[in-house]
Amino acid sequence: YRNLRVALLGGGSVGAQVARLLLEHSDELANRVGASLELVGILVRDLDAPRTVDLPRELLTTDADSLILGADIVIELMGGIEPARSYILTAINSGADVVTANKALLAQHGAELFEAADQVGAQLNYEAAVAGAIPIVRPLRDSLAGDTVNRILGIVNGTTNFILDRMDTAGDTLEEALATATALGYAEADPTADIEGYDAAQKAALLASLAFHTNVPLEKVYREGITQVTPQQIESARKAGYVVKLLAICERLTDPETGEQGVSARVYPAMVHRGHPLAAVHGANNAVFVEAEAAGPLMFYGAGAGGVQTASAVLGDLVSVARRHVMGGPGYAASSHADLPILDIGKVTTRY
Ligand code: NAP
Ligand code: HSE
Repeated sequence: YRNLRVALLGGGSVGAQVARLLLEHSDELANRVGASLELVGILVRDLDAPRTVDLPRELLTTDADSLILGADIVIELMGGIEPARSYILTAINSGADVVTANKALLAQHGAELFEAADQVGAQLNYEAAVAGAIPIVRPLRDSLAGDTVNRILGIVNGTTNFILDRMDTAGDTLEEALATATALGYAEADPTADIEGYDAAQKAALLASLAFHTNVPLEKVYREGITQVTPQQIESARKAGYVVKLLAICERLTDPETGEQGVSARVYPAMVHRGHPLAAVHGANNAVFVEAEAAGPLMFYGAGAGGVQTASAVLGDLVSVARRHVMGGPGYAASSHADLPILDIGKVTTRY
């Protein structure tokens, strides 16, 4: 077997599970790839911090440059904008392929990173950046690439779905439910990203860009979080036969005021009828409905957050990247997009 050197940036909730699975399943993965995947190091901030998984001490490092420059594939699971952005650019420019779960970074700097990858023929995969374990990035990028997607309607943040579910079914306060979600490893390092809807808006920007083959900037995504949702509203919704869900809605439409045709991406708490399949999405699960012209309606459902669940998507990307690395050349253009107007229409529908 050929040997591919894999550098892991981050050994937290997701990174530690990726490291564990990579070490535990090294033989099976080597068979699937046609090359062995050697974990050469795990970048962390604090070598002595307690870890959710017992990681081999000799793999932990704080020396980012040496780790990145010696790798064939770099997996970024640190989160945040910097230094993650610079490390990914260093990896791409040194000839490595990259896997990341960092939706905050991609929603803000994706265009720059995809272009850098395309310029050198590197791969930049990010299945875990949207909806945790659920395969949705590749279905939109590859499987539905020949179809016309008209609409995406989904629950794409596990923490807020967990919180709203606990408020609805167990009478928890937002603060109590958020503390549980954080302890379970679902929340972002700064959970404001979850409860104020920033994380879902980042995912909506990525989904809309993929679905509509354009570049939907994060600042064009209408966003409201769940901090203004009261127990009284949840109770009233229940009495009326609805449940409150934080939805991401991406669709092709016509601006009601200007008549301009374009696309829109929005995130806000909405009333979902108890009979709708989205009402049955509990805990930290996510679900994404895709409506495509030829395919019709499709639904993707599963774990939207959690270290080990998300690690599954990261490892899928790793195997895919490693296979193409073995065969040579990327299989798609990371940055290709059409030029479509992005409509600023705000909140247009509140019940589903
Ligand atoms: P996390 O638990 O906070 O882990 C972050 C890891 O990165 C830690 O090991 C930390 O080191 C390391 N790190 C952070 N900044 C660093 C720096 N400047 N230099 C060196 N190491 C640094 O985060 P996570 O929950 O695993 O999430 C990682 C990424 O996956 C994020 O982009 C997140 O949005 C995304 N994601 C998470 C989930 C989930 O369910 N948790 C699901 C999908 C996507 P120390 O351990 O020493 O502090
Ligand atoms: N904090 C994110 C969530 C992690 O709760 O959905 C998965 O992206």
